[in-house]
Amino acid sequence: MQIGIVGLGYVGLPLVIQFAKSGVQVLGIDVDDKKVEALNRGESYIKHIPASEVQAQLETGQFEVTTDYARVQDLDAVLICVPTPLDANKEPDLSYVLNTGRAIAPHLTKGTVVVLESTTYPGTTEDELRPILEQGSGLKAGTDFHLAYSPEREDPGNPDSQVAKIPKVIGGYTPACLEKAKAVYSLAIETLVPVSSCRAAEATKLLENIYRSVNIALVNELKLIYHAMGVDIWEVIEAAKTKPFGYTPFYPGPGLGGHCIPIDPFYLSWKAREYGMPTRFIELSGEINHAMPQHVVQRCAEALNETGKPVKGSRILLLGLAYKPDVDDCRESPTFEVMDRLKSLGAEIQYFDPYFPEVPQTREHSDWTGFKSMNWNEDNLRKCDLAVILTAHNGVNYAQLAEWISIVVDTRNTMAGVETGSTKIWKA
Ligand SMILES: NC(=O)c1ccc[n+]([C@@H]2O[C@H](COP(=O)([O-])OP(=O)(O)OC[C@H]3O[C@@H](n4cnc5c(N)ncnc54)[C@H](O)[C@@H]3O)[C@@H](O)[C@H]2O)c1
Repeated sequence: MQIGIVGLGYVGLPLVIQFAKSGVQVLGIDVDDKKVEALNRGESYIKHIPASEVQAQLETGQFEVTTDYARVQDLDAVLICVPTPLDANKEPDLSYVLNTGRAIAPHLTKGTVVVLESTTYPGTTEDELRPILEQGSGLKAGTDFHLAYSPEREDPGNPDSQVAKIPKVIGGYTPACLEKAKAVYSLAIETLVPVSSCRAAEATKLLENIYRSVNIALVNELKLIYHAMGVDIWEVIEAAKTKPFGYTPFYPGPGLGGHCIPIDPFYLSWKAREYGMPTRFIELSGEINHAMPQHVVQRCAEALNETGKPVKGSRILLLGLAYKPDVDDCRESPTFEVMDRLKSLGAEIQYFDPYFPEVPQTREHSDWTGFKSMNWNEDNLRKCDLAVILTAHNGVNYAQLAEWISIVVDTRNTMAGVETGSTKIWKA
């Protein structure tokens, strides 16, 4: 069997490697020729995927990469892992998925299994992707080719997260489509979770992400309420999580980041409008989580104020550009909004992130592109009036931070176990 994986990003590349490791012949397809060239040279552009893994699979001959969609005609299965962002009006942007469908369709042959993995609203696979594949190929889904949806559950940066071991939900367009898709994934994934339809599988992924967004909003709101009452939310969560049943800990922070949690819930809100259904939990959690960067800025202002300094003219160091610890992914990172807001108040901004020596090109924050991470040394740190921890990467020396900077605003409770001396810690 030869499997094609379209979209070699944070989701597609680990999947390619997992299939190749399992002895399956894999063809990676991406429109970005820089990524294709890098992989063909045996390089990795994702920090937590070592180049050695790419090289090992290239050497076995199990793994090839191309930009050429004509190769789809040789494949037994095509798995689609392209982006599903929101557009400028915060509405679903399915253009990557639909363009991929248009590119695949002319090369689709009878018997091929097509699976969409990108996160999206219920109905996308059957109502949006299927007609494009059918029109472009002249073939019928469920009769001539097989169609399924199977959401990715990648957890970037978590060393215990192994693609093969994460159970995989799959829904087919027909029962036969489901069986064919299961046969594909069973080559590389240990546990499969079949559901009754593509819609049910699409809805499962959204439930998982909405659950996180809502629970993060809950602790973010409780953080503010408890703070006003003189209670530390972090202490409360540690205590609550000793309950052996009925409680899962979630943690507050400076706002949501990454390609999933800030975006995916709004795919459902948009679709629910068609059914005249409000999505109150999604809207409310979005509102609370989106207010967090401003809360962090407010805490920085209060902290400076206590020492008689205005934000204007103060040198503020932001720690962590990535949206979560130990990854080189800054998509939707709340750090950008905190930087923007502090800058607009006249602060002199510095940032430090070992994963980002400089700010990469982003769609929404291009003003910061090329801005360099500060060199970590005593001289530079002592020049800062305040540091704010937004993402707590391991390997950053927080003891030095406390030694060299007199005010630290901490959104992650990172300083809890650190000897802080006379430095004042402001939780935010
Ligand atoms: N990143 C995560 O942790 C994560 C987890 C679960 C699900 N997802 C979902 O998986 C999907 C992919 O996310 P990602 O983080 O891997 O995105 P990504 O941006 O890292 O990678 C997407 C890749 O698709 C390529 N691409 C775009 N259009 C293409 C086309 N027409 N043909 C071929 N390649 C094309 C891009 O060049 C890029 O390499 C999204 O729907 C996302 O919501 C992501």
